[in-house]
Amino acid sequence: MTAMRRFHRASAAVVAALAAAGCEGVQPMMAPGGPQARSLAQLGWFTLITFAAVSVVMWVLIFWVAVRRRGTLAEHAQPDAPSDHRWIVIGGFLIPAVILCIIFVLTLKTMAAFPLGDHEMQAGEPPITITGHQWWWEIQYQVGAQPSEHFVTANEIHIPAGQPVDIRLETRDVIHSFWVPRLHGKVDLMPGFSNRIRIQADAPELFRGECAEFCGPQHAHMILLVQADAPADYDAWLARMRQPAAAPAAGMAARGQQVFMTHACVLCHTVRGTPAHGLVGPDLTHFGSRKGLAANSYPNATGFLAAWVTHAQTMKPNAQMPNITAFTGEELRALTEYLEGLK
Ligand code: CUA
Repeated sequence: MTAMRRFHRASAAVVAALAAAGCEGVQPMMAPGGPQARSLAQLGWFTLITFAAVSVVMWVLIFWVAVRRRGTLAEHAQPDAPSDHRWIVIGGFLIPAVILCIIFVLTLKTMAAFPLGDHEMQAGEPPITITGHQWWWEIQYQVGAQPSEHFVTANEIHIPAGQPVDIRLETRDVIHSFWVPRLHGKVDLMPGFSNRIRIQADAPELFRGECAEFCGPQHAHMILLVQADAPADYDAWLARMRQPAAAPAAGMAARGQQVFMTHACVLCHTVRGTPAHGLVGPDLTHFGSRKGLAANSYPNATGFLAAWVTHAQTMKPNAQMPNITAFTGEELRALTEYLEGLK
């Protein structure tokens, strides 16, 4: 269970920072890691504090109504006497209207600060396109002028810390929603439509996100990691991702590659630099360098990978990945060694 625990610790790197901020959790909304999330958190705090203050006033008034002296019948006005409506007009209409108007205007202001349309985006195409699938994230990097510099990966994006990054959001099937709470609010991935989003991370850190729109039985197992890197680390990561898969070392890994290429794996997955060009499942060219598997539902470790290959339908029922039980034990060991070696 240590690998699982280590994975959770890594994928929830936020927790430590948050305990200090007073909001623990793996995906806290009130512990922003960048300017977009910060403006949302400020609006959230303002709304929360305002509503808390209103609630306190309400409870005090309710308490006062409950305990105040009732008076005698003689002291009360006649039923048909003109009554005083000031409480209702001021407390029930004017004050709520003013508070709701302020929140409405602040919300519009916050929304206007987020560039979502083409015309507001930085010049040219966004460097990253995320395509939602049931139930994983396909990620295309179009960084660099040459098409040969572009590459595809899955379920984990890297961005340079301190820089705004524009992302195009699309889907292959149903509606999904991009939600990395410490970086941005939810933005949907709509069939037949391109959405845009701009995120920015203050510092090198790992952020966890999840699909935030119900998209089928495994909606809850559609986790996206955003790794903000120092610029030099980001460039190194890009350079590594642009390379085709390294040839496996002789022995187990080489045997594993042979197993991969001669079984069902090759029908659905791509490993650049090999004959595997399947487009149904995630690109596995640098699979070994990723933190999780099954859209970050499990840690990327040999034991979990062997279980995933043979029992995907137990670990993530209804996923497109079938149970592949055709392997001998030796073949399975070779296969996992090959895949984990794809750094
Ligand atoms: Cu994808 Cu919910």
